[in-house]
Order: sequence, then structure tokens, then C-alpha cells
Amino acid sequence: MCGIFGITLSSETTIGALLRRALERLEYRGYDSAGIAIVTPQGILIRKDAGKVAEVSSRYGFDQIRGATGVAHTRWATHGKPNQINAHPHSDCSGTIAVVHNGIIENYEELKSELIAKGHVFKSETDTEVFAHLMEEYERSGLTPWEAFKRALSRIRGAYALAVVDSREPNKVFFARNLSPLIIGVGDGFNLVASDIPTVLEHTNRVIPLRDGEYGYITPSSIVVEHDGVAVDISDRVQLIPWSADQALRGGYQHFMLKEIHEQPEALASTIAGLEPRRLSEVAEMLLNAKRVYVVGAGTSYYAGLTFQLGLIEYRIAAIPIISSEYSTYEGLFDVDDVAVAVSQSGETIDTIRAVRAMRERGVKVVAVTNVVASTLARESDAVLYTRAGPEIGVAATKTFTTQVALLAALHAQVGRIVGADVEPRMQGLKRLPEVVRKAIELNEGSAKALAERLKASASAYYLSRGLGMPVALEGALKMKEIAYVHAEAYPAGESKHGPIALVESKFPVIFVFSDPSLKEKLLNNVAEMQAREALTIGVVPRGDDVGKKLKYVFEVPHLDPLLNSAAFVVPLQLLAYYTAVALGRDPDKPRNLAKTVTVE
Ligand code: M6R
Repeated sequence: MCGIFGITLSSETTIGALLRRALERLEYRGYDSAGIAIVTPQGILIRKDAGKVAEVSSRYGFDQIRGATGVAHTRWATHGKPNQINAHPHSDCSGTIAVVHNGIIENYEELKSELIAKGHVFKSETDTEVFAHLMEEYERSGLTPWEAFKRALSRIRGAYALAVVDSREPNKVFFARNLSPLIIGVGDGFNLVASDIPTVLEHTNRVIPLRDGEYGYITPSSIVVEHDGVAVDISDRVQLIPWSADQALRGGYQHFMLKEIHEQPEALASTIAGLEPRRLSEVAEMLLNAKRVYVVGAGTSYYAGLTFQLGLIEYRIAAIPIISSEYSTYEGLFDVDDVAVAVSQSGETIDTIRAVRAMRERGVKVVAVTNVVASTLARESDAVLYTRAGPEIGVAATKTFTTQVALLAALHAQVGRIVGADVEPRMQGLKRLPEVVRKAIELNEGSAKALAERLKASASAYYLSRGLGMPVALEGALKMKEIAYVHAEAYPAGESKHGPIALVESKFPVIFVFSDPSLKEKLLNNVAEMQAREALTIGVVPRGDDVGKKLKYVFEVPHLDPLLNSAAFVVPLQLLAYYTAVALGRDPDKPRNLAKTVTVE
């Protein structure tokens, strides 16, 4: 979590405005506080405070500050409260060094005691500040800033993406990466470093994703990267990113989340057009030849993975679903001849990366399903299948869920093709999916908005389904709790009688997902049970199906097959969560306590 940015240009500009724009793009990674440090002829100028980027930047007049080199940070607090002192950048005693950091320096307490004993005075409670004092300490002993930076790096343990400016070397930004994501943006007359790709697109689409253990510095005209004291040749590592800067802007929508819900038809169309039959076929063969198959992911990506895992049962493949952060429980199973499908939008979620590393150490082959070219997951997997959803900025995953489901449905069909199943109907359905999702938005946006006005008064809601409808129910409930802060739980509908129904009383909202027609009758029994307790029953149902008559509120969605339905039936639930959040005055793009990419365990 946290977003960092650093840039050095060949000539002076209103760098404060440039840093502010970078922070606005990074803000989805954390929004407890924001800050910038700019190298000026008088030394380093730091402006930082608790609050969102727009507030902090207008409070301190970021846009008026000129300079050629600077770093910026938006924070998701780990060590120390979100206040001005703990906001980044952090500096040394003399104020000549400024550091921004994403990650956790695990041994900061011992380093801090050592530095305090040497006379350093600490201002904040953060782990990050030790890095500035460490560099200062080594500079005091006669090292150059570059030498001091390397020496300081050798002392810290943990996860970090770091960007550092030092007024003794005004045209450099030092950087380092271990576990937390960091990329270099390659420019003409400037170079930059940033936590993610959308942030660099305003300046360049040429990027070099850094690998763990790499560090170096940028100047306006050069890039130096080392690993373990040895220079790294980066000449063939520049990737051209096929996203435009506009894709990462709100484009007239009130929130990124709403924009991204509406972008789903295009995102699906791009993902489907970009399917690579040969790659799908290779991966399908891998799965069919595997002794064990795992499907691993976190949050929304895990739920998308569940659609695949449940779908594979059709071909008698018993895949094991693993929530990334729980991988160690399954570690004893991991073996050569096993294959894992690792699903992650960002390709940087630390839990998923850790799981994949543990699997590969034991010889498991890993297939990545990710949206980000050259992400850590993509680089560290044996095969990669890309969704082509474009940048997703809203913290709540929307278009990335539907594109993951679509891509995994295509992979599922490929497995079916090899085992001789008739997959033509599914492939036809896949082609129709973008249009079906467009229709799902058109048919349900108005009613989601209206129902949100009712749901905003509810403290809790249940999302019930069965079979392949369960991942949709889980995803719908996750959206509701993460952005509207309404307590929402998803259960297999039959399971609701084993405890959860005790909470149900008059007007308690219960949302049923009817995406699997074979389970309709049983699910209707559960509707009746809830109605007997006067629950407010809501359904996401196939368009035109008379099941709608049995429910108080209905969202109708054109029907495909139960696997593909996961991508379409989730749409009204995304809209319902979005409009409930808006009705409650929440900011759906920046839900409290969350960050888009979770880079701490
Ligand atoms: O980038 P990833 O797909 O690995 O992210 C996984 C989860 O952190 C993510 O899906 C999270 O659950 C979303 N905020 C949910 O909307």
C-alpha cells in the first residue's frame, strides 16, 4: 500500500503541480496523508500533512512550487497515526535528505535505537524515517550520497519501494525495490520512478519494471540499476504499455468506480479479442496433465477464481481453491506435477506473490491471470494469461472481476474442447457477453439507484445463492461492505438455515442470485423461508423468468450459461453497492482503511 513517485527533469518547471497530479493518480493506494519534497537551491522543501491529496495540496500551494527534482507520497498508515508528523517524505536531522517509502522496514526499531545513541533526533513514529538518518550517518562518515544510499540499503530488512532525494546531488532520485512494486518511467529530458503504471502515463508509456533487490538512481538523462553491487543491463527491459493516459482519468463520471462499471462491455470485448488460442491450449494441457490443480487469489480475484474452480468439476477436475494469505496451510501438498492458476488484477498483491513463490519453490507450475503487463506475478509465473481491462483505479474491483471471469471461462472451454465436450455454446455466449453486460447495466442502473435509497437504512444484508451463483454472491457482498460499509455476508442459501437466519427479521435485506437455473427450485424454497420471516427479498434473475414474481425487488439480466452468468449477474450488485455508498455519502473510490493493491502481509 502507499504510493510513491519521484522525477528529475533537465529544466525547472512547476514541479509541485506535476507531483500533485501524480499523487492524485496514486491516491487509490492510500489516502491517509500526502506529501512532497522538492530540491531547491536553498535545500529540500517538504510539504506534507494528513488528509486527501486535494486538501493537502491546496493547503500548501503545491501547484506554485518550482523545481526540477522531487519525490511524492500518498500514505496508507502502518506504523504511526495518520498525522502531519508521520506523513512522508521523512528527512534526516539536517534536512538534506528526503525519503518516501512503500512497505515496512522490519528492523527499524533496532536501527532507530542505534541512531538515537549516535545523536540522531527522530521526529516521527514511522519505520521509514530511519532510512533518512542512516544515509545521513553514512554521509557524515565521508561517503557520497550514492555510497551512503547503498550502505543504508544494506542495513534494512523488509519490504520496500523507496525514492530518495539528497540536496548534495540535486539532479538524482535514488530508488530501491524489494517486494513492494516500483517501476522506472523512461523519458526524454527526464526520468521517473513510480509505484504503478497509470501514474507514469501522463509522461511516458516506456517503463522498466524493477525486480526485487534492484536499486539505483535516475538523472534526467541516465538510469543506473544495480543488484548486489553489480550493474544491471536494462537496455532490453523497456516495456511499451498499451494504455493511454486518458484511460486513467475519470472522463466525466462522478467516480472511477462508476466509470469502470460502465467500461465493462469494452473491457470484456478487448479481453475476448485478445485471447491467445495457442497459449490457452498450452495452459489447458498443463491443467489436464497436472496431478493437482490449485486456484489461488485474494478478494475479488479469489472469487473470480472460484467460478473457474467450480466450473472445472464439470470435467471431473477437483481443483483446490486457496485464499492467497492461507497458502501455508496447503504447503504440504505442493509438489512437482501440480499446477496453480494464480489470479490477481495488479499482479502485485503480496499474499498472492508469496503463495506463488512457495508453490514454485516446491516445483508447482504457475499460470498467472493478471491485468498488468510485466507485473511481479507475470514475471514470476511459468505462463501468463492477460485480461485486457485497462487501468482500474477505483479501489473496488469491477471490470477486472468480469474480465477475469471471461478469460477463465475461455480457458475452461479450452479444457472442455480437449476432453471432447461441446463448448460451442459457451464460445458463442462469450462473444455475446460484452453486449449482455451492456444490457445488464442499462436495465438495472435506475432500479439499483432507487433500491439503494432503501438499503442505506439497513445495517446488514445477506447475499444467498447456490453453486456457480456463490462467487457472485460473495463478490456482491464484498462490494457492499467495502464501499458502503453495510455489513454484508454471503452464504450458500441452504447453509443460511444453519445459523445466519437467526438475524433475519422484518425488512432485513436478503439478495438472491439466480445465475444457475438448475438450482432455481431449491433457491426459491430459501426465498420462501426468508419471506416467512418478513425479509426484504431481492433477486438477480434471468431476464423474463417468472422467478422475478416471487421477489419484492428484481434485477433482470439476459441469461447465458451459469459460468458466464457470473460476469453479467454481478453487474446489478456492483451498481447497488455503488449507489448505496453514494446515498450514504461515502467515497466509493477511496473506502476507509483500504488500498487498491495490498503490498503488506
Ligand atoms: O490486485 P489483486 O487482484 O490481487 O487484488 C486482490 C484484492 O485485494 C482485491 O480484489 C480486493 O479484494 C478488491 N478491493 C475488492 O474490490
